[in-house]
Amino acid sequence: MGKVLVLDHPLIQHKLTYIRDKNTGTKEFRELVDEVAMLMAFEITRDLPLLDKKIDTPVMETETKVLAGKKIGLIPILRAGLGMLDGMLKLIPAARVGHVGLYRDPKTLQPVEYYVKLPSDIEERELIVIDPMLATGGSACDAIQALKKRGAKQIRFMCLIAAPEGVEKLKEEHPDVDIYIAALDEKLDEDAYIIPGLGDAGDRLYGTK
Ligand code: URA
Repeated sequence: MGKVLVLDHPLIQHKLTYIRDKNTGTKEFRELVDEVAMLMAFEITRDLPLLDKKIDTPVMETETKVLAGKKIGLIPILRAGLGMLDGMLKLIPAARVGHVGLYRDPKTLQPVEYYVKLPSDIEERELIVIDPMLATGGSACDAIQALKKRGAKQIRFMCLIAAPEGVEKLKEEHPDVDIYIAALDEKLDEDAYIIPGLGDAGDRLYGTK
């Protein structure tokens, strides 16, 4: 069973308060989301494998550590996932980036992939799927399914705010996926908004409505 980790570092909690505040404007919202993504990257990469490396300091020869070079792929779900991409790339600059865009057909309720562009070697990569809001869990599950269908083997999921309903659905449909959350909120309202939440993440990131 995958892990569910709530990354409640004080800096993350502080920044999330201003992200949630409806009086925070687009520019500041975007900057704060970027910063929280960067702080989350620090925790999400905690278990990356290391190798020993001999180096000379100005004082003596010593054996120390470097990253073993595990290949990472960052997969923002369009469009709100893009808001967390740059923060992740600041700490994992060598990561490849794939994009997944999908919606549910209102008649068939089946996921329709309108844009999927991925690194060619996703089966060898540790993929981190990014979406700020895990609400019903529908798009996260569909995006992960779209990746598995194309050969992905190791997948993590990260979001700013999750509803318990979305976490349960994701755990049930993809028990192999570790879930990293900055805050676990109370529930969904009747319009599937997370409460207290932050409103519509895409609209707040891009100043649309
Ligand atoms: N997507 C959002 O952007 N906000 C929510 O509260 C739920 C889904």
